[in-house]
Amino acid sequence: MQEFHPKTIIEPFRIRSVEPVHFTTLVERQAALQAAGYNLFLLSADKVLIDLLTDSGTGAMSSRQWAGMISSDESYAGAASFYRFQAAIQDITGYKYVIPTHQGRGAEHILFSVIARPGDVVPSNTHFDTTRAHVENSGAEARDLVIAEGRQPRLIHPFKGNMDLEALRDTIRTIGRERIPVVMITVTNNSGGGQPVSMANIRAASQIAHEYELPFIIDACRFAENAWFIKTREAGYEDKTPLEIAREMFSYADGCTMSAKKDGMANIGGFLAMNDKSLAERCRTLEILNEGFPTYGGMAGYDMEAIAIGLYEALDPNYLQYRIRSIAYLGERLTAAGVAIIQPTGGHAVYLDAGEMLPHIPPLQYPAWSLNNALYLMGGVRGVEIGSIMFGLHPDGTETPAAMELVRLAFPRRVYTQSHVDYLAEVIVEVFKQRHDLKGYRIVSSAPVLRHFTARLEPI
Ligand code: F0G
Repeated sequence: MQEFHPKTIIEPFRIRSVEPVHFTTLVERQAALQAAGYNLFLLSADKVLIDLLTDSGTGAMSSRQWAGMISSDESYAGAASFYRFQAAIQDITGYKYVIPTHQGRGAEHILFSVIARPGDVVPSNTHFDTTRAHVENSGAEARDLVIAEGRQPRLIHPFKGNMDLEALRDTIRTIGRERIPVVMITVTNNSGGGQPVSMANIRAASQIAHEYELPFIIDACRFAENAWFIKTREAGYEDKTPLEIAREMFSYADGCTMSAKKDGMANIGGFLAMNDKSLAERCRTLEILNEGFPTYGGMAGYDMEAIAIGLYEALDPNYLQYRIRSIAYLGERLTAAGVAIIQPTGGHAVYLDAGEMLPHIPPLQYPAWSLNNALYLMGGVRGVEIGSIMFGLHPDGTETPAAMELVRLAFPRRVYTQSHVDYLAEVIVEVFKQRHDLKGYRIVSSAPVLRHFTARLEPI
């Protein structure tokens, strides 16, 4: 018999425990949205059918992870679960010192409190919001140096998350190496559309940082997804396993920050890992103050077990193929229907371009907010606005339009199946057909910072 290569990529798991989804009628959704001040963050999750608010901490765990959790060691100090967690991270990243934290921002808080000073500049391809906030909290400036292609939503490029290497070198020369505590790179580049960074770019950015004797740190939240893009898009990596690719990525850096809520396949947790012993000692001091004893750092033993197993599951080629393909498939269906999205689709999310879809709604009447609410009303789908509500308000109280008006639909890991994706495509295309009827919003009340979480609005 000849070998058969099926075209259908199936979910690489079967389902043994299920959670019902919540069906609602249009009238129920209208009432729920109104009661939530037209803010999907304020909606009770049991009013949502398909929840794509985030891929962070929302994934399904495997039977192996649950088994690990049941047999965890909850000792305060020196728990066996910590040693298994540490061994997995050392094996995958190669870094000697592992500092557990309650989630990714816990690692960022420790790192930037220790290394960044007022007047410093921290370059990255693009800082995620929490990373930027921690850099700024230490008085330093977070500077984004993604390649020009990465800022053009419709342009197809295999590695739109790449760092602009010339800009990195210029920044170090102009600012002076003594005012740059670290060079960061985020894989994949979440804020830029979940776009990957190539191995060549990681290697080159690392060389530049090291030429100036600066530490080079990876924000590794979606390291496994990035490894898959390298395998499928970069010459020379097609025959390597995601694990081998991940090891090579980490080998160019001096350490990483990690939210295990993404490619750790866990519902909570994170870590900071590095090779520099004296830096690790300084970080541990802060860890004890803010997170917990160095062998649990804000997590339960069972969380560390789930991560120790999850990090390897995230690197399973069958899983990565299914995950990246589901997102690309949704992107293809939307593109075929004429819906504008960030191209190409990235690792964890599809980003709808509301600015393009709803030109009749001015930016400060929040087109992406309107689109996100319309997806909810039409089909019970919840995404997140990445537009002028999130980024438009400045510390001095003035408001300007954000650079882009996007709705991010982020996929929880191993949670939704093909038919859910088909349903999503149908909902989005139907909203697209009725787009001319969508209206803008005005803010009724809002907080002075991070207003998107709690603002109350009304339709215009
Ligand atoms: N870095 C990146 C690239 C992230 O995407 C996130 C979280 C963090 C750091 C912080 O990790 O949430 O564990 O403290 N991103 C989530 C999201 C919240 O929805 O994209 P955390």
